[in-house]
Amino acid sequence: MAGEIAVKIENLSFTYSGGEKPALNKINLEIKRGEYLGIMGLNGAGKTTLGLSINGIVPQSTMGFYEGNVTVEGLDTATTPVREMARTVGIVFDNPEFQMSQVSAAEEVALGLENLGVPNEEMPPRVGAALGTVGLAGFEERSPMGLSGGQQQRLAIASVLAMQPKILFMDEPTSNLDPIGKEEVFELARKLNREEGMTVIVAEHEAEVLAAYADRIVVLHQGEIVMIGTPSEVFSRGAELAKIGLRVPQATELALSLAAAGAKDLPVTTDEAITWLEARA
Ligand SMILES: Nc1ncnc2c1ncn2[C@@H]1O[C@H](COP(=O)(O)OP(=O)(O)OP(=O)(O)O)[C@@H](O)[C@H]1O
Ligand SMILES: [Mg+2]
Repeated sequence: MAGEIAVKIENLSFTYSGGEKPALNKINLEIKRGEYLGIMGLNGAGKTTLGLSINGIVPQSTMGFYEGNVTVEGLDTATTPVREMARTVGIVFDNPEFQMSQVSAAEEVALGLENLGVPNEEMPPRVGAALGTVGLAGFEERSPMGLSGGQQQRLAIASVLAMQPKILFMDEPTSNLDPIGKEEVFELARKLNREEGMTVIVAEHEAEVLAAYADRIVVLHQGEIVMIGTPSEVFSRGAELAKIGLRVPQATELALSLAAAGAKDLPVTTDEAITWLEARA
């Protein structure tokens, strides 16, 4: 077992069949247990491919050329069956509606458990517990289609939590949600991370959200890691980010534009910006 390390990626490269360039190119990354890691990058940077390589869909269910090693909670993702990997890594995608296939919320959550071969008598308590965790207690018989976007996405999260994974990967989980739905989902992820110690990995293009929640941010560009660090470290390199088409949080932008060159301890969240500005008023 890897001790404090949840995910260890060594020299990972992957090129999809028919792809001209590698979707991932010589990625090296260690993700600690209990860490909240943000992954930032433009469309096509490789965020989704990185997520799929953490749960084994890449390379096991995806045609392409794969090199390197990925170990997740001691499991080799290239050889551990994807079904087995699903017990360790839960993935939530961007469009909650698209993920819903069942008549009721309870059936939606039970589906993944059936696939894992969980005995029938264990279903109701596990379904109930997962719905409770995401704040949907009592929603068992509700139709997923009748829920708000934020509730649907929380239901999608409940479906993976029922499998009791150690790692939650969310792939732009709020890109189709309104601001209230976004906050519901990110608050839930924060709760799972802080209170349950779950390792959370979020691919996200909104700098503000990563600044507010992530312990560390990885910046992907054309399949390569070009930056890695705390939100302050990454967002203080605003000019470099701009060069690859990424922006910093508005609070940082403000500070960058106000500060003389060489200013230190730039704020990245709105709260930090207030303190930062007050100190200079
Ligand atoms: N199924 C596929 N077949 C061929 N090429 C693919 C496939 N999926 C992704 N790619 C290519 O791999 C590269 C990385 O794509 P990926 O979807 O991982 O990026 P992403 O950062 O998730 O982008 P987005 O923000 O648009 O979701 C891109 O060049 C993309 O065109
Ligand atoms: Mg993607």
